[in-house]
Amino acid sequence: MNSTADRYAVVGYPVKHSRSPFIHAMFAKQTDQNLSYQMMEVTPQQLETEVKKFFESGGKGLNITVPHKQAIRSCTRFQTPRAELAGAINTLVLMQDGTLLGDNTDGVGLLTDLTQNLNAQLRDKRILMLGAGGAARGVIAPLLQQAPTELVIANRNVERADRLVEEFMTLGSLSSVAFEAIEPVPFDFIINATSASLQGEMLALPTGIVGEHTLCYDMAYAKDGTVFTRWAKQQGAAEAVLGWGMLVEQAAESFFLWRGIRPDTKPVLEALLKPPPRTSATP
Ligand code: ATR
Repeated sequence: MNSTADRYAVVGYPVKHSRSPFIHAMFAKQTDQNLSYQMMEVTPQQLETEVKKFFESGGKGLNITVPHKQAIRSCTRFQTPRAELAGAINTLVLMQDGTLLGDNTDGVGLLTDLTQNLNAQLRDKRILMLGAGGAARGVIAPLLQQAPTELVIANRNVERADRLVEEFMTLGSLSSVAFEAIEPVPFDFIINATSASLQGEMLALPTGIVGEHTLCYDMAYAKDGTVFTRWAKQQGAAEAVLGWGMLVEQAAESFFLWRGIRPDTKPVLEALLKPPPRTSATP
């Protein structure tokens, strides 16, 4: 990287645990792109001013993360259809004419991880999605586009799930349910889009929803697994997967929007999952 490097950053609050700088640095190296990627810790009150400053000072693109994905929509008049459907933006791109385009790459990130990295087919399958917040709404449309038999949204506050069903019902077979009322028949996929894993809390899920063919996916990620993936294994799931792949794939899609090049995600995912080097007492 030299002084003429194009500038990118991730904006969040807090943001210091973000792995995006590591991921984009690897993408840049791999594709020989001259760019820098920083972290910007920005409070909700500072969001609009700091984003404006970043682009006025020559910045080329931003990733937007928690808690700003919805609020950032007021910073741009132009959104891709998938960002509009998700009701959230995770990528801002400075276009050639100087306008800002807001996009959302989370849905494609999850779908790429499921269908390409994990070789899963969603067509004619039953999917249970846990959660009805921002993370959930961002992936409903892309999941329904895969034509599952049904997508059931379960949430602690079932009214939030009801509202999502109303909004997305024209896109496919969608229903809402409270956790305790989930029919105890194994699903093909159970996707955890709640933030409960981040707080180390397990959801009050009934038994009988996991079978030996069920793939359980936590959109959260942690080196040693989450309460949800541990629960899934105990229930006998075929696979219990953490959201590392989604993280890297959504980043790759942002990188493609900014640079027009698709990085190879495999080595980056491997590097993220590699255990830290063991320290030794001898030199
Ligand atoms: P995000 O943008 O990360 O989705 P959010 O909009 O605050 O954040 O949504 C958080 C989601 O996690 C919601 O579905 C929330 O359930 P409620 O709508 O009932 O609040 C869910 N969630 C968080 N902690 C939870 C817990 N301990 N048990 C069950 N659901 C939880």
